[in-house]
Amino acid sequence: MAEFKIPQLRRKKERGEPIVSITAYDLFTAHLARDAGVDFVLVGDSMANVLQGHSTTVPVSLEDVIYHTRIVVRALPDMLVIGDMPFGTFKVSADETVHNALALFKETGCGAVKMEGADESNLDATARLKRIGVPVMGHLGLLPQRVHATGGYRIQGRSEKSRQRLLAEAQALQDAGAFAVVLECVESRCAEAITRALKVPTIGIGSGPHTDGQILVIHDALGMHAEYLPSFARRFANLYADGVEALREYTGAVRARTFPGPGEYTMVPQKAADESDNEGAQTA
Ligand code: KIV
Repeated sequence: MAEFKIPQLRRKKERGEPIVSITAYDLFTAHLARDAGVDFVLVGDSMANVLQGHSTTVPVSLEDVIYHTRIVVRALPDMLVIGDMPFGTFKVSADETVHNALALFKETGCGAVKMEGADESNLDATARLKRIGVPVMGHLGLLPQRVHATGGYRIQGRSEKSRQRLLAEAQALQDAGAFAVVLECVESRCAEAITRALKVPTIGIGSGPHTDGQILVIHDALGMHAEYLPSFARRFANLYADGVEALREYTGAVRARTFPGPGEYTMVPQKAADESDNEGAQTA
């Protein structure tokens, strides 16, 4: 059961074992993550960029996240799957946040939800959700849902003021009951200080090597697109390039009439075909 995976994350932190996470959005990416042995998957609102072709994560709807989270939960019945709360479904009020988080949790069967930021309404909702039985993962540093307000994608925690603010926010999320905190594009010494200060695990993305775990968008990690790769990401494979190459071969084979070849189709012997009343049985 996914819920019981959450204490394991805390134990990994205590033992100093790195926590590995990746995003997943469908059967293919979910099964890749499972078979590679990652610790948990996030059905991220990054689906806006990598599945839907938007330039920010703002347009994703709760229905979109519910749809993809259901698929991933069905694909991974024994893994911790976390559903990401999309822009506009939280922060507006704690009541609305709780309502939307319950919908995501109940309608998908995911093991936890994630929310960006640590304002009062988030903290209140995190505490209420924990009491109800919905584990919440926090997300601090660069908040992609706020890029229109903050003016772009920048490293956070460089100045002393920003560092202190991030530390206080991380502590407040832990106190409210968050079971882990994602640190996105947080200056590495600041991320290290937060990781040391918290009892709950930190999961870094673009925040250096000293967080308790790492997460990447699977399309970046596997080279599943030909778009810009963030400087902090690493391509561990080139599935997009390999896919184009493979489809070029397929295209060439169809045009050259070498596909389908012998053994790639069935011919019913003429006698059997003549005896058959079934038209469809003549060739397949
Ligand atoms: O939506 C997402 O994929 C995320 C991760 C990058 C942490 O929030």
